[in-house]
Amino acid sequence: MDEGGSRIRRRVSLPKRNRPSLGCIFVGLTAAELEPGDEGKEEEEMVAENRRRKTAGVLRVEHNDSEEDMFGDYDSFTENSFIAQVDNLEQKYMQLPEHKKHATDFATENLYSESIKNKLSITTIGNLTELQTDEHTENQSGYEGVTVEPGADLLYDVPSSQAIYFENLQNSSNDLGICSMKERDWKSSSHNTVNEELPHNCIEQRQQNDEDSSKVRISSDMNRRKSIKDHLKSAMTGNAKAQTPIFSRSKQLKDTLLSEEINVAKKTIESSSNDLGPFYSLPSKVRDLYAQFKGIEKLYEWQHTCLTLNSVQERKNLIYSLPTSGGKTLVAEILMLQELLCCRKDVLMILPYVAIVQEKISGLSSFGVELGFFVEEYAGSKGRFPPTKRREKKSLYIATIEKGHSLVNSLIESGRIDSLGLVVVDELHMIGEGSRGATLEMTLAKILYTSKTTQIIGMSATLNNVEDLQKFLQAEYYTSQFRPVELKEYLKINDTIYEIDSKAENGMTFSRLLNYKYSDTLKKMDPDHLVALVTEVIPNYSCLVFCPSKKNCENVAEMICKFLSKEYLKHKEKEKCEVIKNLKNIGNGNLCPVLKRTIPFGVAYHHSGLTSDERKLLEEAYSAGVLCLFTCTSTLAAGVNLPARRVILRAPYVAMEFLKRNQYKQMIGRAGRAGIDTIGESILILQEKDKQQVLELITRPLENCYSHLVREFTKGIQTLFLSLIGLKIATNLDDIYHFMNGTFFGVQQKILLKEKSLWEITVESLRYLTEKGLLQKDTICKSEEEVQHNFHITKLGRASFKGTIDLAYCDILYRDLKKGLEGLVLESLLHLIYLTTPYDLISQCNPDWMIYFRQKVDKDVVNRLYLSFVLYTLLKETNIWTVSEKFNMPRGYIQNLLTGAASFSSCVLHFCEELEEFWVYRALLVELTKKLTYCVKAELIPLMEVTGVLEGRAKQLYSAGYKSLMHLANANPEVLIRTIDHLSRRQAKQIVASAKMLLHEKAEALQEEVEELLRLPSDFPGAVASSTDKA
Ligand SMILES: Nc1ncnc2c1ncn2[C@@H]1O[C@H](COP(=O)(O)OP(=O)(O)OP(=O)(O)O)[C@@H](O)[C@H]1O
Ligand SMILES: [Mg+2]
Repeated sequence: MDEGGSRIRRRVSLPKRNRPSLGCIFVGLTAAELEPGDEGKEEEEMVAENRRRKTAGVLRVEHNDSEEDMFGDYDSFTENSFIAQVDNLEQKYMQLPEHKKHATDFATENLYSESIKNKLSITTIGNLTELQTDEHTENQSGYEGVTVEPGADLLYDVPSSQAIYFENLQNSSNDLGICSMKERDWKSSSHNTVNEELPHNCIEQRQQNDEDSSKVRISSDMNRRKSIKDHLKSAMTGNAKAQTPIFSRSKQLKDTLLSEEINVAKKTIESSSNDLGPFYSLPSKVRDLYAQFKGIEKLYEWQHTCLTLNSVQERKNLIYSLPTSGGKTLVAEILMLQELLCCRKDVLMILPYVAIVQEKISGLSSFGVELGFFVEEYAGSKGRFPPTKRREKKSLYIATIEKGHSLVNSLIESGRIDSLGLVVVDELHMIGEGSRGATLEMTLAKILYTSKTTQIIGMSATLNNVEDLQKFLQAEYYTSQFRPVELKEYLKINDTIYEIDSKAENGMTFSRLLNYKYSDTLKKMDPDHLVALVTEVIPNYSCLVFCPSKKNCENVAEMICKFLSKEYLKHKEKEKCEVIKNLKNIGNGNLCPVLKRTIPFGVAYHHSGLTSDERKLLEEAYSAGVLCLFTCTSTLAAGVNLPARRVILRAPYVAMEFLKRNQYKQMIGRAGRAGIDTIGESILILQEKDKQQVLELITRPLENCYSHLVREFTKGIQTLFLSLIGLKIATNLDDIYHFMNGTFFGVQQKILLKEKSLWEITVESLRYLTEKGLLQKDTICKSEEEVQHNFHITKLGRASFKGTIDLAYCDILYRDLKKGLEGLVLESLLHLIYLTTPYDLISQCNPDWMIYFRQKVDKDVVNRLYLSFVLYTLLKETNIWTVSEKFNMPRGYIQNLLTGAASFSSCVLHFCEELEEFWVYRALLVELTKKLTYCVKAELIPLMEVTGVLEGRAKQLYSAGYKSLMHLANANPEVLIRTIDHLSRRQAKQIVASAKMLLHEKAEALQEEVEELLRLPSDFPGAVASSTDKA
């Protein structure tokens, strides 16, 4: 076993914290993450659900859910063994560059060398900075153990675009003659100033170190420590200076002011007086930042009231509910900032979809940089378990539901759950939605059970049975009907429009008659008058048309464009050409024929069949007003801030199911977003036959949300119990029952499962897990009458838990792997790929293999094999578009398959790590996981690590000369806008802020590591004696 372990160690060469996909190697992705934002009950998802229902256990109740966590999402949280191995290897390589030559995997080699370059570039800057700014400091060239690659000099390696910018600057200052001299003088003095001012703790450190060195005997170690530490700080200073020299003095003043304000705020919070700081106990800089970054000058009245509630001041748990676009986020953000800056605790924010997490990361990174906290992404392939321990600054983890769960598990396991001061859950109603809801419930229940100090805040626009949730979360409740932009709701039946009016007898009043002059052809093609309805709004305003299915989105987009006047082609023509060009670029020359036809009219479809790159590009173009109409599925329903003057619901259905009130409210809530639109209206198109049902829909209250913990058998209660025992949160029957009492299910048990008591459900589930060989029961006789049932996790249980394998599949996975051992074909990767092709996706695959079917081959095996072929081809060709064409599958699906397989492969790896008999798979799967994870060009990976930079954008940036994270962090947003096509100022700023944040985070982590390495162990022989001697 050890041998196997060391073999892995030798083979792996990925750097720690440097790659976006490291997390992916450890953490499974989920369906929701694979298809961000696609919660529509779309065709294939329904099929998947049907299959899950078949595999689920006896306690399952029929339901539909489209946001499934396909692969589980948990990763190794005892230790980052893989990362540690990677680190070791990286260290070795850092010292012995010739090892590079032996790397066999091209991609790996590139990655690895890129990472070294990253680190060396920091080194070089530091070196240069020190040389330039402090002549009296001896150049400690031999930063032991760090080799500087000749010519690896970042200052001379700026992107070409940036070089042009600097050249222009130079020219203009030359023109100014004397002024340029002054500027040079100023620059050189600002160099010194930077050195004196910015790293003032660097100077402190230096002085401190000088004192230390006179006191302490082990001076060589201390010098070394000093040099590396100073060196890192200089590097950071160098980076900061390279881009913002002008800010040095004012920045210092601002920083001082800020830290003073934070101190005052801290005291205010500690003294729990009512005297709030300048801005809700926060420095006034926060107010300025909101004005600057978000254009928010003043809080709404309800926001003020909510923030000053006694319960909020007393840090009680809180649920608040307001209509869509009510401004809920701001309240949560202010509370999060209070926790980070004043209470000095970490914060977790849980959001429903990857795209929304990324939007939030981009939005809050600038706050993090300005106010001094880390913003860490836990979505898709990103996230580290347990999170890096920070020395001073606190972290704001922004996570999807699944990653949030993994994060909480890892904090519990490492005994750090109390470091989490606040957990914010946006769209809290999702607790009632399928397996994702069950996951959210588990997360919150675990926090409630293990940490008495962590505050929980939940918000939503669509809550009804709040009392149940309040009881579960032991929370106060605040609500208001405030919506800053009025939203008018209409219904359209035939050619009449009615306004929804709660005071009217049947809930609606006549508004107007449609009087469109439709030709016969048009009437036939567009019986719902969609063309007329959208043209009342576009192109000057934007419009969203929600359609029941993906195919329908595409058809509607095409149909509308067929009848739009040619005049529409002229609107923002050049920009639309750019969008098409960019789409083609990111598709490696391919362009979807539907989009090709619709974009010139400013129209596009938006659903999960698009790749994430395409989706992002289209959303950006839509936000900028270049596109004015999206036909979309419910992908765009929740929490999204896109402009929409009018939202049209094409039919009261999502896939085949009748619309729920919650869904309706979320969809129409996209219209009239504050700060974007001044008016909002929605039109629901319906047929006469649906009238009665729609009238009920608009008048009835929102749906209640119910716990899915028990309904989601393998992904709910079973996974929960396995983790409770695996994490030692509760290991005996009584404690587990006690835990169950505190869950949302515990609160609703009497409504949800009348025929069984909570005790019976608990015992039954534990028995099931024991019979499956995942748990073992030990019965301890405490006394003659008293018997205690303790549980411990078996090897298979631990393997499933560590690998986050859906318990519905753990047996079959074990069997398949065992079978594989009998004759593993290693001539190509195909056999291995087969073994790591996700089981969940099998049902969505529909191969055209009639011959096989006729032979009565097991359909699951055939489908899985078919998917393996798709993946195998993808690994060879690395082009989603060609593979999509070859296999006639949507490109979005192919992309999901790839990310799904990468993450499942890592899950299987962790599964195998726990089971002796599968030692041979470990080394093989490490490599395979890497290949699946990095199925993009290796050089783009460092750029894609930055939030919001997807493959297409990374390609653009790379070809403009921005080749590393440091390039991006030092980029000038204004230059970026000029050199990168289709990049708005806001996006450019966000990219730079996110890159800066990441760079700071990495530098800080390295710094921590250095200090940790050089620290004298507390149990060092004689250490205690000498300190006693001194005393
Ligand atoms: N005090 C304010 N002044 C001006 N604009 C504000 C204010 N508070 C929030 N906003 C803006 O209102 C818009 C909607 O806010 P937010 O996204 O928080 O809505 P929400 O309540 O979360 O809605 P949903 O339930 O749809 O997610 C955002 O663009 C936000 O910047
Ligand atoms: Mg919101």
